[in-house]
Amino acid sequence: MRRPLLGGNEGLMPDTAKLKQAREASALHGQDHLFRFYDSLGAPEQDALVDQILSVDFAQVAELHRDLVVNQSGTASQERIEPLRAKPWEDFDLGERASLANLGMRALRDGKVAAFLVAGGQGTRLGHNGPKGVFDIGLPSRKSLFQLQAERILRLSRQAGKTIPWYIMTSEENHAETTGFFKERRFFGLSERDVFFFKQGEMPTVDAEGKILLASKGRLSMGPNGNGGCFLALAKSGALEDMKRRGIEHVFFYSVDNALVRVCDPHFVGFAIQEGFPAASKAVLKVQPEEKVGVLCLRNGKPSVIEYSEMTEEMIYSKTADGRYLYDSANIAMHLFTRAFLETHAGASLPFHLAHKKIAYVAPSGETVTPTLPNAYKFELFMFDLFPMAGAMAGLLVRREEEFAPVKNKDGVDSPASARAQLLELHHKWAVAAGVSEEELKGKLVEISPLSSYGGEGINTALIRSQLGNPIIHVS
Ligand code: UTP
Repeated sequence: MRRPLLGGNEGLMPDTAKLKQAREASALHGQDHLFRFYDSLGAPEQDALVDQILSVDFAQVAELHRDLVVNQSGTASQERIEPLRAKPWEDFDLGERASLANLGMRALRDGKVAAFLVAGGQGTRLGHNGPKGVFDIGLPSRKSLFQLQAERILRLSRQAGKTIPWYIMTSEENHAETTGFFKERRFFGLSERDVFFFKQGEMPTVDAEGKILLASKGRLSMGPNGNGGCFLALAKSGALEDMKRRGIEHVFFYSVDNALVRVCDPHFVGFAIQEGFPAASKAVLKVQPEEKVGVLCLRNGKPSVIEYSEMTEEMIYSKTADGRYLYDSANIAMHLFTRAFLETHAGASLPFHLAHKKIAYVAPSGETVTPTLPNAYKFELFMFDLFPMAGAMAGLLVRREEEFAPVKNKDGVDSPASARAQLLELHHKWAVAAGVSEEELKGKLVEISPLSSYGGEGINTALIRSQLGNPIIHVS
């Protein structure tokens, strides 16, 4: 990736020199419309616009527009694709499971494991304004996604007897709100010292002709550069260095929008350590072969993810002798990387992908237009483009109903309602498994705080029974 232009001497240039350079750079790349409203702006807005323009790599934007929008070169693929099927957790016998869990717990106890959350997304499908992690999916406790994760980290840290540091990637757009939310809620009981926030990079948004959109008269339309921006941000922010200082060896990567995410799951950590590769992934079975999710695969012999749109009919429906579909291990964005691997490859240049979105913009008339159809292109990095650099990866197949409740859409599939229902059903099952009968729980909702149970262990049945007179049972 090219370096942004700003960051050298430009910041020290007199304003007139900066203005001249910004005008020349935008004119050279056919982006002089960015100055359309310049004369109508106040001095501070003018300066901010010039600085923003100088921070953009126009040549890179032109190249990406040519390759991805005009030539659509990102979609043609002559690669050799083979399956990479995750190993089902159920295939391990009880003894093996216990020893993997012990291995993972030992790493946690030794302070070698960190949580790494990517939370810089815009959540456009959910339509929630602000960081997705502050979203309340409507649980009886009204806990936010951030709180559920924080409490799992706290519980596991207590079980391990060692603090698990938490690295959180935000974006320019949601950083202040995210950090403010944590401060207001006193970091949900975690120590502020062990939560490290940092911002990801940005890319401009362009129209079909490659013109950068104006978000306002004095501001370019920018968006986070995709979840694959996390690796460079990890290195540039000093987070990787901080991990090293703390003796972290394994980094648990995950997305903000899974209500059931088992952050730093000791079973998975143990599995990954035992497999011994630089990276490992958790996966779930596709709900049906046509489910539109990316699945783990090998591309030219290297680990990767294949998108549904890239798969042929034959790939979608082929099965093996054991009755499993060949490409059945859906990527749920839960991975474990060794820190050593991240240190070596965090600066790697990853390819950009194209996203076609509805983005509001300022028209030449000065009016703000809110489109009803996709009008703009965003360039995004995908985190799984780092996978091939691992050479080989291990996959662990876990149960969707226990570990994956995505919050992507406003309603219907993968919505707050579906995630809430899934979490409450799981907690109901935990209560039953602990000895409370279905009969006793009939018509009642059970919510178990992550502070008292990470994965169904240690359920306090007496506490549940003491609340049987209520429609909602809270185990805190
Ligand atoms: P999604 O791909 O679901 O994107 O993110 P999104 O922005 O949250 O939602 P839509 O597509 O606009 O509806 C998967 C994970 O990657 C993070 C998100 O915060 C989420 O945890 N992400 C995505 C980033 O951290 N940065 C990005 O630039 C994009």
